[in-house]
Amino acid sequence: MLILGIETSCDETAASVIKDGKEILSNIVATSSEMHAKTGGIIPEQAARQQVKSIIPVINEALKKAGVTKEDIDQIAVTVGPGLIGSLLVGVETAKTLSFVWEKPIVPVNHLAAHIYANWLEAEKEPPLPALSLVVSGGHTDLVVMHKHGKLEWLGGTRDDAAGEAFDKTARLLGLPYPGGPAISKETEKYLNKNPDEKLDLFPRPMVDEENFDWSFSGLKTAVLREVNENEDKSVERLSAEIQEAIVDVLVEKTLNAAEKFKPNSLLLSGGVAANKRLREKFKQRVSKRGIEVDFRVPKPKLCTDNATYIASFANFNNKPVSWQKVDANPQLSITGQV
Ligand code: KG4
Ligand code: ZN
Repeated sequence: MLILGIETSCDETAASVIKDGKEILSNIVATSSEMHAKTGGIIPEQAARQQVKSIIPVINEALKKAGVTKEDIDQIAVTVGPGLIGSLLVGVETAKTLSFVWEKPIVPVNHLAAHIYANWLEAEKEPPLPALSLVVSGGHTDLVVMHKHGKLEWLGGTRDDAAGEAFDKTARLLGLPYPGGPAISKETEKYLNKNPDEKLDLFPRPMVDEENFDWSFSGLKTAVLREVNENEDKSVERLSAEIQEAIVDVLVEKTLNAAEKFKPNSLLLSGGVAANKRLREKFKQRVSKRGIEVDFRVPKPKLCTDNATYIASFANFNNKPVSWQKVDANPQLSITGQV
């Protein structure tokens, strides 16, 4: 089964050809993030205009790189939500047109549920189910149990800002560029090279001891703002290290509380924030320290941030083609929402 995946939910224009849901034949991503770095965040209309410019060249490149033609493609998979409406429409309408003209089935894909499938790509062995899955992206933080393909149970999520948003907004307060996650991570490395044994407990870990699986990150933003305005004694490097550790700590500990309670067979990270080196390391350390027996997986960093590989993989394992007339963008879709 060869699936062409198309992803345009935010500021990445991506297309990919995936074989049997696991093998990556091509993975092409064009991003307008440099443009947004200058403005400190995404301007939706500009992101959409860039999507229009990039979509055809990106799809062409994905087919070429995979060494296939449109005749070889069995299905087209496209992100229908959540995301920015202007950006989503570019991918959705392009995919519908291709489906009509090429006479190929089309599968609408939930971007958040699809993130999880980065763990199926290039995996020697498929993750055993049920899986506990933490999806941490720019706009969403969700913890779900995946009982089987197509059956997700939502356990909790953020009550305000998403983890990625917390990185992006606090980075902005520190004068660092968009996207904030990689920028904060880079500053942290500089700090830790100079202060390897420093205890990082300046900022609060909200809700960490509560018996639920929810997070709250907006308080962190306020605490960082206070530090920046009232105490000028701390460097951007130090504050970055403190921010990263506070976000990582609460994500790891609450997810592991859920792992202890639900005893899943695997624990899967995904989403842009899962590219964070410290988050990946701390999960590994704490799983072993807390003695949790689980098959822990995290995709390569390149497969955590937005791309179309997992969009196609999702379609492979949740195969529900529909007629193109029934495919609509849905910017507000939740992780368990039906497309
Ligand atoms: O999944 P994603 O690429 O796009 C969305 O679906 O939102 O996630 C983007 C988010 C941004 O907030 C970005 O700051 C964050 O992922 N991110 C990171 C890292 N790389 C990307 N956060 C922390 N550390 C990173 N290395
Ligand atoms: Zn994403």
